[in-house]
Amino acid sequence: MRAMSLFNDNWLFLPRPADSNVPDADFSSITLPHSNKIFPHHNFHDDEYQFISTYRKRFRLPLLLNGRRLYLDFGGAMLAATVSINGHTFPEYKGGFTPFSFDITDYVREDAENLLVVHLDSTERKDIPPYGYVVDYMTFGGIYRDVHLRYVAPVHITNVHVRTYDVLTDKPRAEVDIFVRNQSDSVFQGSVQALINSGIIAADGNVATLAIDTVPIEIAAQSQEKVTIILADLPQIALWTLDNPVRYGLGVELHQAGTCIDDYGAFPFGFREAVFKDDGFYLNGERLQLRGLNRHQTYAYIGCAAPARLQRKDADIVKFELGCNVVRTSHYPQSPHFLNRCDEIGLLVFEEIPGWQHIGDKDWQAISLRDVRAMIERDWNHPSIILWGVRINESLDNTEFYTATNALARTLDTTRQTGGVRFFPHSEFLEDVYTMNDFYGPLEPTHSPWLITEFHGHMFPTKTFDNEDRRLDHAVRHAKYHARAATMGGIAGAIAWCAFDYNTHKEFGSGDRICYHGVSDIFRLPKWAAHFYASQQAPTQRIVLQAASLWSMGDRSEGGNNPLYVFSNCDTIEVFAGTERIGEFKPNHDEFPNIPHPPFKVTGLGMRWGEEFGDLRVVGYLAGKAVAEQNIACDGHPTQLVLALDDDVIAADGADMTRLIFKVVDRYGNPLPYATPIVNFEISGDAELIGENPFALVGGQAALYVKARHTAGTVVIRASTKRLPDAEITLTIA
Ligand code: GAL
Repeated sequence: MRAMSLFNDNWLFLPRPADSNVPDADFSSITLPHSNKIFPHHNFHDDEYQFISTYRKRFRLPLLLNGRRLYLDFGGAMLAATVSINGHTFPEYKGGFTPFSFDITDYVREDAENLLVVHLDSTERKDIPPYGYVVDYMTFGGIYRDVHLRYVAPVHITNVHVRTYDVLTDKPRAEVDIFVRNQSDSVFQGSVQALINSGIIAADGNVATLAIDTVPIEIAAQSQEKVTIILADLPQIALWTLDNPVRYGLGVELHQAGTCIDDYGAFPFGFREAVFKDDGFYLNGERLQLRGLNRHQTYAYIGCAAPARLQRKDADIVKFELGCNVVRTSHYPQSPHFLNRCDEIGLLVFEEIPGWQHIGDKDWQAISLRDVRAMIERDWNHPSIILWGVRINESLDNTEFYTATNALARTLDTTRQTGGVRFFPHSEFLEDVYTMNDFYGPLEPTHSPWLITEFHGHMFPTKTFDNEDRRLDHAVRHAKYHARAATMGGIAGAIAWCAFDYNTHKEFGSGDRICYHGVSDIFRLPKWAAHFYASQQAPTQRIVLQAASLWSMGDRSEGGNNPLYVFSNCDTIEVFAGTERIGEFKPNHDEFPNIPHPPFKVTGLGMRWGEEFGDLRVVGYLAGKAVAEQNIACDGHPTQLVLALDDDVIAADGADMTRLIFKVVDRYGNPLPYATPIVNFEISGDAELIGENPFALVGGQAALYVKARHTAGTVVIRASTKRLPDAEITLTIA
């Protein structure tokens, strides 16, 4: 029977090439996911991750083979991996964003220790996408995704593709393609079974089977076949929607002579119809204006090597903190943990192949075509994914290459449309959706369907520690762009550049190796633009109320606080300055038409520079009831250093991490962007703090990560500054 074993533990790492003569003692012990180097959050050079490193792992097989084949599955390693097992070397895998596997059965020993070695080349090799020219993001280095051992019968299922049809009728069906490989030397005759279950575990531990069918299969020796099982006659199914992303379970088994010889394992999928039409995007038959952000997979300090928890958290941030309904995985396939979470919470995804502006030679293009296949075959069962990006982001036209990428995508997955991100309006339209980076517009669409896949970004970089005018302008620009896109018609939606600030090469960004293009900072903490996005979600999901103001009298040009913008999904707000009631305000539909929750524009704040003024108080009302309130101190005085953890408990697996946020705030808890104390951290208990310590605070807010080792217990983190009271927080490692 099939068995999967997570293979992240007990690796050895050396940040240089090493042959077998180098003793283990020279290596350090690590757990995957792993970054070949830990960095400060900025002010470092890409040279620092560009080297060849050696990973070693000595292991005994966790399970005996018992006649099975054994595969080693890598989720992703940056950028080219040469894997050897007991002296046998497999061909180099070129590419850092797509998974790769090796059949190691013939090289492993069951009765002795095995030696696995990975020589990982993390240099920016011009023969591998995205490299060849300049690239506006760092790729970092390391075996940064999970590795598994996979035991399978010689005849086994290699992949399953579930496609749903007619989901809006009373006769929905699922068609399940099952790919089976026969690695034996004889013909295989058996059957394949697919079943849909309710995905809900009942009190007795069982799940209800909704549909089941079996088809015969015959596969010649050493070959593969695909069979399709159609599961119709389903009882009433619930759709996968953004508010209620219902998922069902799909189980697939391979049988021979009445015995199951391979159980693929049940995985979730959803029934939904996602289609771009000429006038926009439709989810389950209803027009949905897409509002989203681009996400890079890189994090402060750890590059790409974020464990599942941080990947999942990013999806939560994009949906619940940034109120988006779509995310673009710019500019490559991202972590399965991130995508799984998008499925779970109802966040749409536009996923694309690796690359940035540059198309290489034929060999390079062959890697890119392989990436199209690898992306689609890995991710085709995610209900969240609505579009495949099959162009190199912002490259020039290339008829032959893009005809091939489109054809491949359409052959592999007939249920999803293709896009391909371009930055000039009359590029050749070989895709199904004209996906356009529109930094000057929104421009009048020249094709349909038309989706804006980037705007703003480098046109208006903004830091958490910029002055109020700029931070406000940044937020208002995002709001105005969405309003214009929604008003023009013929635009399916707009995905802004971008969710989070990110580390980049010297050709881009602010010179400190950060592109400050995010609506949130590199720690995923909000700028005011983030609050605009947050405020677009329904108040039933989360009530949002944020005044975009420091409430100081002299930070803006010419001083004062007029007008005051408030991002909120309340119906009305009431504003007070000190004891004075300024008035009640409604969302400003005139300046921001056709978006769910236009910002509030508060005028009539009579205070003048140099005059006495009091605290700001904003109260938000829904259906006449006060539901939210924000106060901002008028004295800008730092009163507290606050700590917060995203999680109370993390796993003692040597890799799990959670974010430790720290802020210097006024007496109402508002971060003070110009507070710049040096913050010192101490940790007691068996865990590691990842990040700069001490930290010279900028923007009033930042974060470190707390990383578990292999021991359970309690960890206490204490933070101190020169003048503020110390802060302390506790984390459980279980
Ligand atoms: C785009 C590009 C993005 C990012 C952005 C900055 O041209 O696709 O990766 O560089 O500009 O605004």
